[in-house]
Amino acid sequence: MDEQELDTYADSLFGGEDQLLQQMRDEAERLGIPSIQVPSDLARLLTVLIGAIQPKSVLEIGTLFGYSSIVMSRALPPGATITTLEVSSKHAEVARRNFGRAAVADRINLREGSALDTLKTLQREQFDFVFIDADKPSYPAYLDAVLNLSHAGTVIVADNVWRNGGVLAPEDDGTHALGTFNRKVAENERLLSTIVSTRDGSDAAMISVVR
Ligand code: SAH
Ligand code: DHB
Ligand code: MG
Repeated sequence: MDEQELDTYADSLFGGEDQLLQQMRDEAERLGIPSIQVPSDLARLLTVLIGAIQPKSVLEIGTLFGYSSIVMSRALPPGATITTLEVSSKHAEVARRNFGRAAVADRINLREGSALDTLKTLQREQFDFVFIDADKPSYPAYLDAVLNLSHAGTVIVADNVWRNGGVLAPEDDGTHALGTFNRKVAENERLLSTIVSTRDGSDAAMISVVR
């Protein structure tokens, strides 16, 4: 069984990405921005979760060129907003342009700066849905910060929790931190969680709901 073919099969069923997202991906590549946006299976998972939860407020940590922000914004109920955090001014500039092109700029508030600093300024806010997808060594600290901005029912999704299998034998800061993140999530009695594989089974996302 070829799992790559099964991903292609799923894309052929659901249509994959539209032309605008594909153009943004091509342009980002030309600009030398890493091609590490969500794959199509995770994009669909975020879309379904947001469609079911109908969050009024979404927090995203790690904007890149705005791909996952745009995917999520399209599934939002009317009046809902996304706050997305990005440290790279180059990525932020391209993302802002893309939000305009996708006609979703009115729903997305991009906060430029180191996410841990920005998270401190959000202390009065509560989010209904959170997507963690920035620098891997900070994942354990992001979890603590996000739990302080959550309420019963908040759904938290974190990308890359397998790091292509690296969490089984951690060798660098990123894989060590993801191992720590996964244990912290599993041991937290406020969270009901599961891991869902993505990218042909090579990586995975953590899905948690706050009780
Ligand atoms: N969620 C995006 C992909 C994010 S890639 C998508 O699927 O489309 C990770 C992003 O996190 C990169 O743009 C990187 O610049 C950003 N990042 C890295 N360290 C960060 C930090 N300390 N604070 C905020 N953003 C950071
Ligand atoms: C990397 C980061 C990601 O968020 C991802 O989905 C894939 C790769 C990286 O930094 O290598
Ligand atoms: Mg990722």
